[in-house]
Parts: sequence; C-alpha cells; structure tokens
Amino acid sequence: MVGYQPADWERTLRHGVKPDGTPLMVMPSEDFARWTDADVAAVAAYVRSLPPQPGGPAVLQLPLPVRVMYGLGLVQDAAERIDHRLPPAQPVPEGVTVQHGQYVANGCTGCHGQQLSGGKIPGAPPDWPAAANLTPGEGSALVRYADAAQFRAMLRSGQRPDGSAVSKVMPFEALSQMSDTDIDAAYLYLKSLPPRAAGGR
Ligand code: HEC
Repeated sequence: MVGYQPADWERTLRHGVKPDGTPLMVMPSEDFARWTDADVAAVAAYVRSLPPQPGGPAVLQLPLPVRVMYGLGLVQDAAERIDHRLPPAQPVPEGVTVQHGQYVANGCTGCHGQQLSGGKIPGAPPDWPAAANLTPGEGSALVRYADAAQFRAMLRSGQRPDGSAVSKVMPFEALSQMSDTDIDAAYLYLKSLPPRAAGGR
C-alpha cells in the first residue's frame, strides 16, 4: 500500500481497478463501490496507520475450475459488474433506519447479488453453497429470524437460531464486528425489500 494515492484507493475500492489500470481479480469491489467519501478516506487512513508487517507480493491461488472459467472469460471481475457512472453515495445519518440499512447492505451484494435474492456466487469455487435469498421472497432465509436480535446473534456467532452452522463462506470474522446499529438497520432494510424469487441475484 506504500505509495497508494487517494485516487488509487478510490479506484481500487470503488471501481475494482488497480493503479496500473488492470482489473482486480476476486476482490469484491462491488461491496465497496457505494462507500461514501468519508468511509473510503477512513479505511485508507486506518490501513496506513497499521504497523509495517513483513509480507510478500499478493499470491492468488484460484482453484483450477475457477482458473479455467477465468481463462474462458466466463468470470466477470467486479470492475465489469460495477456501474461506474454512479456518483459516490451521499452520507446518510447512522441509525436504525431503512436508509442506513440500505447503505450497510451494499456490503452484502457481491455475494448475495445486487437485488439480494442470492444464488450461485459468480466465479466462486464449485463447493461453495449458493448465497441465501435475503429478500422476503420464495426460499427466503429471513423467515428464520423473527426479530433483529436473532439476526444479530447469527452474524455474531455464525449459527442459525436452531443452532446449525451457516457456511464459513459468510465472512463472519468481519460480519461479527458490525455494530448493533448497522445490523439492526440492515435487518430493517431487508425486511422492507420487495419479495424476489431465490437466485435471481
Ligand atoms: C463472501 C460472500 C458473502 C458475503 C460478503 C455475505 N454473505 Fe451472507 N451468505 C453467503 C453464503 C454463501 C450463504 C449461504 C450459507 C449456507 O448456505 O450455509 C450466506 C447466507 C446468509 C444468510 C442466511 C443464513 C441462514 O439462516 O441460512 C443471511 C441472513 C446472510 N447471509 C446475510 C448476510 C448479510 C446481511 C451480509 C452483509 C452484511 C452478508 N450475508 C454478506 C455469502 C456471503
């Protein structure tokens, strides 16, 4: 990250494009494409503040079927999926509101789809389960969460209300750190969505 300029953070996080202009592979930049200027700046400042750690160049190990799909041009990078014409999102006040929940849920779209109805994650290894339908439509995962408290408990523990484990494909290390406000707002927003059939992305 040494030498990363503000424009490079902007390109990487919002557009999925490296400083040299080539698309980033795998990094789900569509999850961050709608970040406000303040959030992009805060993350850049935080990463810069970390003490230097020994590390090598990034090594990307893709399973063979995924490499083959890349080779055939069947996997789209985030850069191809992001609508680059959209202006940065305007900050919305933080609170348990549908509006803030929509902002938070942008971070779920890379896997759960722009419409949040889930389905097979494009470019994912074949053994990954399909992402769940987060709209109230057919096959919705939300029926298992009677209130925001149950939803919060799942994101913090990785377990459904019946005690079974949700696949670790869900990035619980990060999700468990979400604030109560963010989780409750996301729950409110998901509940407000029009029902969509599972897998429409
Ligand atoms: C890296 C991909 C990824 C991201 C990012 C992600 N999810 Fe998921 N999520 C999945 C997958 C895959 C499943 C299906 C897991 C399974 O079937 O065990 C899932 C399942 C779920 C479920 C269903 C749990 C159940 O009861 O079966 C909920 C609810 C959910 N995700 C919410 C979210 C929310 C909210 C966010 C954003 C804050 C999010 N996810 C971000 C991949 C992701």
